[in-house]
Amino acid sequence: MLMDNDKRFVTGIDVGTENVRAIIATVSKDGAVAIVGFNEGKSAGMRKGVPANLTGPASSIDQMLGEAERMGGYEVRSAYVSIGGSQILSTRTEGMIAVGTVEHEINLDDLDRVENVAVSGRIPANRDVLDVIPLEYALDGQGGIKDPIGMSGARLEMRANVISALTPNCENLKKATLAADVKSERLIPSVVAAAKAVLTDRQKENGVAVIDMGAATTSVAVYEEGDLQYVGVVPAGSNHITNDLAIVLAIDPEMAEEIKTRFVTGDFHSEKSPVIKIGREGKNERAFDRKEVDEVVKARLEEIFGEIRKKLMAARYDQRLPEGIILTGGGAKMRDIELFAKECLEASIKIGVPQNLGGVSESIEKPEFATAVGLALLAAEQESAAPASNKKSLKLKKPSEKQNFLQKIFSKF
Ligand SMILES: Nc1ncnc2c1ncn2[C@@H]1O[C@H](COP(=O)(O)OP(=O)(O)OP(=O)(O)O)[C@@H](O)[C@H]1O
Ligand SMILES: [Mg+2]
Repeated sequence: MLMDNDKRFVTGIDVGTENVRAIIATVSKDGAVAIVGFNEGKSAGMRKGVPANLTGPASSIDQMLGEAERMGGYEVRSAYVSIGGSQILSTRTEGMIAVGTVEHEINLDDLDRVENVAVSGRIPANRDVLDVIPLEYALDGQGGIKDPIGMSGARLEMRANVISALTPNCENLKKATLAADVKSERLIPSVVAAAKAVLTDRQKENGVAVIDMGAATTSVAVYEEGDLQYVGVVPAGSNHITNDLAIVLAIDPEMAEEIKTRFVTGDFHSEKSPVIKIGREGKNERAFDRKEVDEVVKARLEEIFGEIRKKLMAARYDQRLPEGIILTGGGAKMRDIELFAKECLEASIKIGVPQNLGGVSESIEKPEFATAVGLALLAAEQESAAPASNKKSLKLKKPSEKQNFLQKIFSKF
């Protein structure tokens, strides 16, 4: 559409509990990505990161997308879409197959077969596999192999990280997106997409975590040796802070949100004015005790980051992140939150913003846009793909499977 043949369009849609965001980008033949359209809007019908009904998310996607489409001069038909919710699981699996004689050279079919063995039956039945990340291969018992294509051996083993989500959540998200006339090409956990936008290859190689603090959920993704090692989601986010403030201070949520965004900081040590004043002097001015506000905020932050820390410990990554932790999502906009996170997680902390993108990118260099940008970048990578031996992530998507999937959702409509 409206585009010379050298470029194509890709779209990422981040469907959050509080906000929906879209990025439309062009990809040139050499893989260069330029953002041409973006927008954000309020979300509806989402609870704890997943759809609670179909019309809410469908109409919020539809409305929000309109502006991004006008800006980009492109009508979105398909997109990479974020999925949230605490039901997202990261499972370590293994598989082994016999490939023939020792002279046999490992090919793509072998990788497919060993992957099938590693995945099928290992994931509970009511789950959709979102991604399979091969962590390591072994040939005839010798491990540590990253890319076994062309190597010789009779027995192929694979260790993998399988990311899955509850099937009903995936189906409902696809339906809601489709009701907004957009086909979801792939569902990606929001924190994984955010990681794509804010991490460098070097960080992923050395060991790093991303924490996406949203409105109703906070998720963490860990990378090491270049691979996604772990994903976990905590069912609490920055809106819980707002709600706590509303309850404890007996004020409406709008006022609580104003206190949070204007006055709250993650620095609980330095001297601050003891009174928080909002509203207009003499008119509707209200004053709140800073200590009381701080106590409420700190308790909730401790709970959320404490849960994240437990997850990192359970996955044995709490003391193993040389590149530290990057915070994204709207919750990362709290002033000085990195000070609190540093103390709680005992790691170096940075705020992650999508950067170095061509096009209209300045306005989206914000932590809350990381997921949408990452989705567009992943979409850009997928199609511009890569020499055959590198097509790991493509092989799950055989045309026949895609066709079946489409028929399935259309028949339900
Ligand atoms: N300046 C700020 N200070 C503190 N919190 C903020 C600030 N700006 C936004 N937030 C909070 O960020 C949250 C929204 O973040 P975001 O848009 O990433 O959530 P979401 O993606 O809709 O939700 P989820 O990922 O949980 O489904 C809200 O709770 C909002 O109050
Ligand atoms: Mg989010």
